[in-house]
Amino acid sequence: MLELRGLSKHFGGVKALDGLDLSVREGEIFGLIGPNGSGKSTAINLICGVYAESAGTVRFSGQVMNGKAPHERLRAGIARTFQNIRLFPNLTVWQNLWVAQNSPRDVAAQGFLSRWFGATRRTRRELAELLELADLGHKGDELASNLAFGEQRRLEFARAAAARPRLLLLDEPAAGMSRQEIEDLGGRIRGLRDSGVTILLVEHVMELVMGVTEQIAVLNFGKKIAFGTPGEVQRNEAVQEAYLGTSASDSGAAGEGA
Ligand SMILES: Nc1ncnc2c1ncn2[C@@H]1O[C@H](COP(=O)(O)OP(=O)(O)OP(=O)(O)O)[C@@H](O)[C@H]1O
Ligand SMILES: [Mg+2]
Repeated sequence: MLELRGLSKHFGGVKALDGLDLSVREGEIFGLIGPNGSGKSTAINLICGVYAESAGTVRFSGQVMNGKAPHERLRAGIARTFQNIRLFPNLTVWQNLWVAQNSPRDVAAQGFLSRWFGATRRTRRELAELLELADLGHKGDELASNLAFGEQRRLEFARAAAARPRLLLLDEPAAGMSRQEIEDLGGRIRGLRDSGVTILLVEHVMELVMGVTEQIAVLNFGKKIAFGTPGEVQRNEAVQEAYLGTSASDSGAAGEGA
């Protein structure tokens, strides 16, 4: 479903990503891990078209995506979340979801006069389900800016799902979450996959990565240093070295895991 070949991004002298080859099969949850600054977010930004690649190709469903704008890739079925939460703070929870399914022009034309008149019945039902799934059913009319941190993360996840993607790129969705919230998130990620969405998960929280993914690629300094099942990756010496060789916050994470 997603095929990266020789994908590279250079910022001046910094090779943020350096010749990444990677294949994600339809229907799988694929993990992309690596120490801080190893190129994970850069890979996501290249896949969804926020950055233009310095070299290499991004193929999605057999179609070359190079040169296509983010909104074109979204229309093709690629959605993402951000490492730092990016909601529309002055829109309600419900409106944040609705925007994901409508062009800005539609949204402006309808002026949010009424959430119920503005949306079709199908959309209403679908968004209500997503709200329930995100455990935000009771918060639909709350402004996004009034939500607690964990709720904002859940809303961002629901909003990405609302775009009805075929491939969802998650950039550290568990950052700052409690243990219980991480467990719930794991269930949501699996649920989404079971509904037919392929998932690329970038994450430092090893219990989550090791618990939900089928295949993992490990980056270090922009290069893939390992690939395999969660068990294989955890046993990989190069991976253990890469993690132990970096700064405190993630040391040993790959070795401990599940
Ligand atoms: N817009 C940019 N301009 C210059 N350098 C950048 C830019 N974006 C990323 N980099 C550099 O590219 C490298 C990879 O960064 P990237 O954000 O992809 O890492 P990451 O694996 O997502 O790290 P983290 O786990 O901390 O989120 C880093 O050295 C970073 O400083
Ligand atoms: Mg990152």
